[in-house]
Amino acid sequence: MSVTLVAPDIAEQARPGQFIEVALPDERSSMLRRPFYVHQTSRRGGWAGTLEFVLEPRGPGSAWLAEVRPHQFLDVIGPLGRPFSYPRKPVNCLLVMEGYGAAPLLFLAEELIAQGQRVDMIMAAGSQDQVLKPIDAKRLSRIISVVTADGSAGEPGRAADVLEAIVDRCGTQVVYAAGPRPLLRAVAEFCRERSIPAQVAVEEQTACGTGLCWGCVVPVARRDGKTYDHLRACVDGPAMNAARILWDRWGTSRPMPTPPEGFPPIQPDEVLPTPPHGFPALRR
Ligand SMILES: Cc1cc2nc3c(=O)[nH]c(=O)nc-3n(C[C@H](O)[C@H](O)[C@H](O)COP(=O)(O)OP(=O)(O)OC[C@H]3O[C@@H](n4cnc5c(N)ncnc54)[C@H](O)[C@@H]3O)c2cc1C
Ligand code: FES
Repeated sequence: MSVTLVAPDIAEQARPGQFIEVALPDERSSMLRRPFYVHQTSRRGGWAGTLEFVLEPRGPGSAWLAEVRPHQFLDVIGPLGRPFSYPRKPVNCLLVMEGYGAAPLLFLAEELIAQGQRVDMIMAAGSQDQVLKPIDAKRLSRIISVVTADGSAGEPGRAADVLEAIVDRCGTQVVYAAGPRPLLRAVAEFCRERSIPAQVAVEEQTACGTGLCWGCVVPVARRDGKTYDHLRACVDGPAMNAARILWDRWGTSRPMPTPPEGFPPIQPDEVLPTPPHGFPALRR
């Protein structure tokens, strides 16, 4: 399901890959705001800029949001985080999404098409009823592959299962991905092998969502390929260069030695500009 808010300032500024944070009422289990990707915005019109976000019921916060009534006031901040960056020249873009990862990527598809890019998609979900706006997705993409875990729509399986075939069929030059971490990792590793620039929307459980608590860090290799920084998913992401994320180290609390040969070399970002990372390094 999705929720549409009247929030003209956020709707005006939000870009694909950014998110909002919604506060829950006091009696709910946690005081932390909950993050949701901006899915659609309507920037037209004088006073009523709106934005839509998608809700996959999970815990108390999403259960409460699923029950909100029309005209109910919500305490929301945003847009937050770093959006996806766009190719500098016309290329074939493949958007790979699973579950609510479709929310930011359908928004991205519209922006890419408006810029003259070709868009193809892999849309994965648990079952047919969980595929987000399949008619819109079909309208937006030149070639689309739908994959469901239970086989109720499209191919049975996961998005990663069809990645190679779709990349070859579409002549993909740039990949964007959003969804669970195993999918992002599979996309990153495939694209590294093929030297295809890729951006992924990383997710960590956010506490503040605004860069203050450092509770959402992701290990990201520096350009020298020998050292790395901890970047915050909420302000240096969600959109990150997939090739620079150190997937084995992400979420590992133990200090790990740097391999003597360093990290795998980083491909130059010829087509997809790397979001700038101007934040202080945390050294081990
Ligand atoms: C940048 C960002 C964008 C997001 N966009 C969306 C969106 O568009 N639609 C949507 O439905 N959800 C989205 N999420 C996930 C959503 O914010 C969480 O599921 C949130 O915890 C829901 O709150 P809750 O109170 O319902 O569940 P909680 O009680 O907070 O969580 C329920 C369970 O889910 C686990 N969990 C929480 N967050 C995540 C996560 N990010 N990945 C995996 N497991 C998690 C918790 O550990 C817990 O076990 C996003 C998360 C991030 C970081
Ligand atoms: S959630 Fe606090 S710094 Fe990212």
